Amino acid sequence: MGDIIERYIKNPDFKKEQFLELLGCASDPEAAGRLREEAVRVQKLHYGEKIYTRGLIEFTNYCRNDCRYCGIRRGNLHARRYRLTKEEILDCCARGYALGFRTFVLQGGEDRWFTDERMADIVRSIRQNHPDCAITLSLGERSYESYRLLKEAGADRYLLRHETANEEHYKKLHPADMSLAVRKLCLYDLKLLGYQVGAGFMVGSPGQTAECLAEDLVFLKELKPHMVGIGPFIPHHDTVFAGEPAGSVEQTLFFLSVIRILLPKVLLPATTALGTLDPEGREKGILAGANVVMPNLSPLKNRKQYDLYDNKISTGEEAAECREDLARRVERIGYHLVEERGDAER
Ligand code: 5AD
Repeated sequence: MGDIIERYIKNPDFKKEQFLELLGCASDPEAAGRLREEAVRVQKLHYGEKIYTRGLIEFTNYCRNDCRYCGIRRGNLHARRYRLTKEEILDCCARGYALGFRTFVLQGGEDRWFTDERMADIVRSIRQNHPDCAITLSLGERSYESYRLLKEAGADRYLLRHETANEEHYKKLHPADMSLAVRKLCLYDLKLLGYQVGAGFMVGSPGQTAECLAEDLVFLKELKPHMVGIGPFIPHHDTVFAGEPAGSVEQTLFFLSVIRILLPKVLLPATTALGTLDPEGREKGILAGANVVMPNLSPLKNRKQYDLYDNKISTGEEAAECREDLARRVERIGYHLVEERGDAER
């Protein structure tokens, strides 16, 4: 058991079979502990005790896609749809700026109302109002030209989880009109355009096998993203996966450590899903190698509507208004929230 961990720590340039062997240790507390220790060493080597914050603005829950796991999928007729106006989005940024956020993440479903023109106009205004801030977009799959225009308008980063790197599993999670090939193409387009790119996947999603997870790690090693978002799968009552079990917190923490060692300078959030399954998920994530938190900056009136999975937290330490509480919690475990853009070190 311990042997594979030591080999990984020494040289994480693993092939699929070796990743599979590594994943065999995920439920061994001793192995996970050793990995965590190394992950924290690497995290501190590159980022010290700094924890970066991102203000998350969930600006639309309209979506043209029908992803089987997601609460805002097109087919969910119970979802109450909303779309923020440009003014509301700019207000969120101004509020976030005053609270100390220097990165804004605009995340939404794939909502055609937000054409390239409308989106570029919003990005340009944020760029103008907050020249010292980073703008991250998370709008799903768009064309190369669209990504290019948005980059030109002032966007710096783009989050697009690959969700799973296994073809068959991708088909199980998504409707027939979506494909892993297109998803990967988008990620490579974004990289080519000079975005700092974030990929990622859910831990414990229905049908996920150890093979899938090993392939996720191989893909991440290939893509070399600047950011990796991973969180446990959590069922949503209005989806076909309503009755499926949630992913495990322990396994998610194990993957945070694995990824920190695989991509030492990666920006790695302790995600909302992790905080949803465990009230101390945030802290545990940081102590497993994460160095980013993304509190919710969306208008209070809409927060419950961005309902990706059941019981998604949006208040307490999860809320941008509670930055002070979050700062205290982070201090308690020996880290500091910083007021910086927090670009990826290369
Ligand atoms: N459980 C956990 N994460 C989910 N996401 C969507 N639905 C769920 C769910 N049921 C994640 C996806 C997506 C991100 C915005 O939220 O990975 O990329």
